[in-house]
Amino acid sequence: MRAYILEHYGGPEGSRLMDVPAPAPRPRDILVKVRAAGLNPVDFKFRQGKLRAILRPRLPFVLGNELAGEVIAVGGDVKRFHVGDRVFARVAKDRAGAFAEQACVGEDDAALMPGNLDFTAAAAVPLAALTALQALRDELDVKPGQNVFISGGAGGVGTFAIQIAKWLGAHVTTTASPRGEALVRSLGCDEVIDYTTQDISELGARFDAGFDLIGGDTLKQMFKIMKPGTKIVSVAALPEPQTAIKDLDGSRALAVLFWIISYSIRSRARRAGIGYRYLFMHPSGNDLAQLAELIEQGKLKVIVDKTYPLANISDALTYVEAGHAKGKVVVTMG
Ligand SMILES: NC(=O)c1ccc[n+]([C@@H]2O[C@H](COP(=O)([O-])OP(=O)(O)OC[C@H]3O[C@@H](n4cnc5c(N)ncnc54)[C@H](OP(=O)(O)O)[C@@H]3O)[C@@H](O)[C@H]2O)c1
Repeated sequence: MRAYILEHYGGPEGSRLMDVPAPAPRPRDILVKVRAAGLNPVDFKFRQGKLRAILRPRLPFVLGNELAGEVIAVGGDVKRFHVGDRVFARVAKDRAGAFAEQACVGEDDAALMPGNLDFTAAAAVPLAALTALQALRDELDVKPGQNVFISGGAGGVGTFAIQIAKWLGAHVTTTASPRGEALVRSLGCDEVIDYTTQDISELGARFDAGFDLIGGDTLKQMFKIMKPGTKIVSVAALPEPQTAIKDLDGSRALAVLFWIISYSIRSRARRAGIGYRYLFMHPSGNDLAQLAELIEQGKLKVIVDKTYPLANISDALTYVEAGHAKGKVVVTMG
């Protein structure tokens, strides 16, 4: 099968499309004929070697973290899926393998695709929408009537986060450039701050929950606009000890490393009286099934910015890396 393989860390020259043997399903795996795969910033960050502290698979390694396609075989212990099912999944990070014509997925990581989506739109959902759901529902516990601030609402995660926060009943404010403003408003965002001209710290301390998709100075400013006693969840700044304990393998060494690198952010948070958590999202077939329901009910729209054929995946990654995607970028297998 054709697959996009990482041979060595660095720039695009370290990865290429190759013919490799198709993977064989383990007892609790489904084998999927991949029809489309979504791209995410984690793909180029992983390719650059930036995730080596937490993820060191043996190379060569098939890249790609989310997919949609048809089940073509099931392992002996699979209970929930059958050959012919149309599924979507965020694959386990240490297995990846979505940028390929076939991929193995643990059955607990997959769900049936929403009936009203094609493969391209379905492949755009798993990683970004699960991130938004797990941050807003599970970590921030967003309640009706709360004021939620989301930095970077126009990208892959942000377009889902705005809609999920609205579904949870919140009043939603986001940052976007003039290029993204119409999109975020169309998704129901109540207030839009143009981050290219406005300083968010002028909004005043009026937010009950903060979801940070940008990090850096944006996160620093967010500490000034939260009510005391509230919490910010970031997926774009620096991991802290809870990331190692709750989201990764729980290793003490990793928790210590994250304690050190997040010291300055955690000190800032403590001074402001705000909680800080860096979330590393996890695959979940159950959460995906809930997202599929929201999509079928018309409560969650999928925004696909661009699609590329698998043959042009390197261009697709370059586009994502440029950081201006509006919604999601997807490769199709044809
Ligand atoms: N920890 C986890 O589990 C996890 C999961 C998912 C994602 N992430 C991380 O979360 C971040 C966001 O992911 P994504 O998929 O949403 O990225 P993305 O789709 O690449 O985001 C691109 C969007 O961000 C906007 N943007 C760029 N700079 C901005 C700024 N300073 N303020 C506001 N908006 C800005 C761009 O708008 P303009 O071009 O109009 O400026 C563009 O529309 C990435 O760092 C990613 O690695 C982490």
